[in-house]
Formats: sequence, structure tokens, C-alpha cells
Amino acid sequence: MQNLQNQVSETATPATIDMQGIIDMTRGDMAAVNQVIQNRLQSEVVLINQMGHYIINSGGKRLRPLLVLLTARAFGYSGAQHVEIAAIIEFIHTATLLHDDVVDGSDMRRGNETANNIWGNEASVLVGDFLYSRAFEMMVDVKNMRVMEILAHATNTIAEGEVLQLLNCHDADTTEASYLEVIHSKTAKLFEAATQLGAVISARSEAEERAMAAYGMHIGTAFQLIDDVLDYSSSAEEIGKNIGDDLAEGKPTLPLIYAMRKGTAEQAHVIRSAIENGGRNQIAEVIDAVHSTGAIAYTAQLADQEAKMAALALAIIPPSEYKDALYALADFSVNRTY
Ligand code: IPE
Ligand code: IPE
Ligand code: MG
Ligand code: MG
Repeated sequence: MQNLQNQVSETATPATIDMQGIIDMTRGDMAAVNQVIQNRLQSEVVLINQMGHYIINSGGKRLRPLLVLLTARAFGYSGAQHVEIAAIIEFIHTATLLHDDVVDGSDMRRGNETANNIWGNEASVLVGDFLYSRAFEMMVDVKNMRVMEILAHATNTIAEGEVLQLLNCHDADTTEASYLEVIHSKTAKLFEAATQLGAVISARSEAEERAMAAYGMHIGTAFQLIDDVLDYSSSAEEIGKNIGDDLAEGKPTLPLIYAMRKGTAEQAHVIRSAIENGGRNQIAEVIDAVHSTGAIAYTAQLADQEAKMAALALAIIPPSEYKDALYALADFSVNRTY
């Protein structure tokens, strides 16, 4: 997380706070979130404890919990529910990662071997279910129907997004619109829930709640667009996951969709066959095509627009150092290198 400090950009609104500052201002809250996470990971079933601790303590960025904490604080929230909700959201996120790595056949996550590689697909699916259902137990404890409604809906939408993506897999005719629908559902929806809930528990106006939901949707979209860029332009050391996974699975992400549209007939043909057949055989040609056609630049520019829209959505909320941190995270979502 320390590297986050270097991510300040000239886009959106000038960030007046760096990542270290954000970590410092949320240190107490985040320690409380981590405590709740450790307490609620407990199970009498040894394998659940083992796998749960392995994945949860393996160095995730904790970005979604951070968003809950900052949003609540930006609204002057002084209760304790933001900590519970931040932990719930990290549980849901972690469950999606366990399932996602099975579906994607991934070998590396957070710089370590994936849980499915170590314990197998069956264990990953079932422990993912444990984390999902534990998150729902924790939601009930919050005793707020609006919170329940938003989180239940977000979880359901993530599942829809992952299934829609599965249907698009190996389909080289997947449209940009369909790709965007996938990323709004599988990724941005949880960011939206995180930031909206900060407003909900602070009992803010409907307009503020809507603005915070929009902020989360936009930065979540930027975040996934950049994830899909990094899959063709980063390294395993930097992002802690193997690059080229998307191509290996025949996942038609925006860099490929755009490169097929703009590239030569030969480039379009190579990408089409890579999507249809999967694997890494043509990875060098595909990486060359996504760069030379401007597909990487196009995707990154779309992410930049999303980050700018996220920043605009913040206009309605009162000024504070927490609001400055939210601006900085909009920058981070697009300028991140991991
Ligand atoms: C990974 O999310 C899944 C995507 C939505 C791309 P993060 O990059 O936030 O994962 P961790 O929690 O930091 O490992
Ligand atoms: C994000 O999709 C997964 C979820 C939000 C469930 P990816 O498949 O692109 O995420 P990574 O790259 O494996 O982290
Ligand atoms: Mg994946
Ligand atoms: Mg990815």
C-alpha cells in the first residue's frame, strides 16, 4: 500500500493529499476494521480458518473498506457502523476473488499462489460461500434494512456480472456496451455500495446519497478499466497477478474490442482467434496490437473520464480532509500501477 503514495496525478482535481496521508487519517478506523475481520473469520472448521486467513491477510489494498470509512467521515459520521460495513464489504470482495480465481483459472493473487492452486477449486468455492454468508450474518447485525437492501442488491449484481462475463467469454463479437455492463456489475457495483452506504448510515439527503453512489460507480468503473489495461501492460511483480490471464481465458476486454475495431485485418484476425481459442500462444502479437492501435490509450482515457466524473460527483459534499482523500482516490483509480 505504500506505493500508493506515488499515484498522485494532474487529472480531475489536484490531489492535496497523498496515499500516506490517507492511510494516516484512517489508521484508527482501519485497525478496527481489521479487528472485526479477524474476529469474524473464526470458524470451528480448520480449513476455513486456514484459507480465510491466507487470503484475507495476503496484502489486499483494502480500497473498498477505505471508501466506506472516508465517506462516512466526510459526512461527519460518529457511530461505529462504518467499521462493520467496511469489514462486510471486504468479506464480499474476498469471496468474489476466491470464486473469480476458480472461474478464471488464475494461479497468482496478491503476489502469492491462489487459494485454488493450493487447496483446489472445491475448497475455494466453498470457503467463498462461507465468506459471503458470514457477510450476510454481519449485515443482519447492523439492523438497518437500507444497508441490507443495498448490500444484498450489490452482491446479486456482482453475480450477474460474472455470469454475463462468462457468456461473453470466447465471443469475439462482444460489444463495448456489453463489456461495460459486465464491469459495472462485477466491479463498480461494490464500489457504489461502499460509498453510498457512507451516506446512508450518516442519514444524509437523497441527493448526497445519489452523488456518493455515482462517485463509487465511476471510480469502480475506472478501476476495472485500468485492471484490464494492466493485464496487457504491467508485470506480475507490479500487480501481484499474472498478466495475460484475460487473453488466456479468451476474455473480450475493451483493449481487445477496440484493437479489433481499429487494427489491420491481420491484427483483427489474430485477436479474434486468440479470443475464440484462448491460451497464450499469440500473446506477443496481441500485446503489440493493443499498443499500436491505441487500444490501451483509449481504455485508459475512458478510465480518466470516469475519474473526472467521480470527482464532479463530490461537488455536493462539504469540504474536509476526507473529501480531499476521496478526490485523491479518484486519481488513484486511474493512475494506479497495481
Ligand atoms: C481486484 O480488486 C479485483 C478487481 C476488481 C479488479 P483489487 O485490486 O482491489 O484487489 P485487492 O483487494 O487489492 O487484492
Ligand atoms: C474482477 O475481475 C473480479 C470481480 C470483481 C469479481 P477480474 O477477473 O478482472 O479480476 P482479477 O484481474 O482476477 O483481479
Ligand atoms: Mg480474474
Ligand atoms: Mg483482471
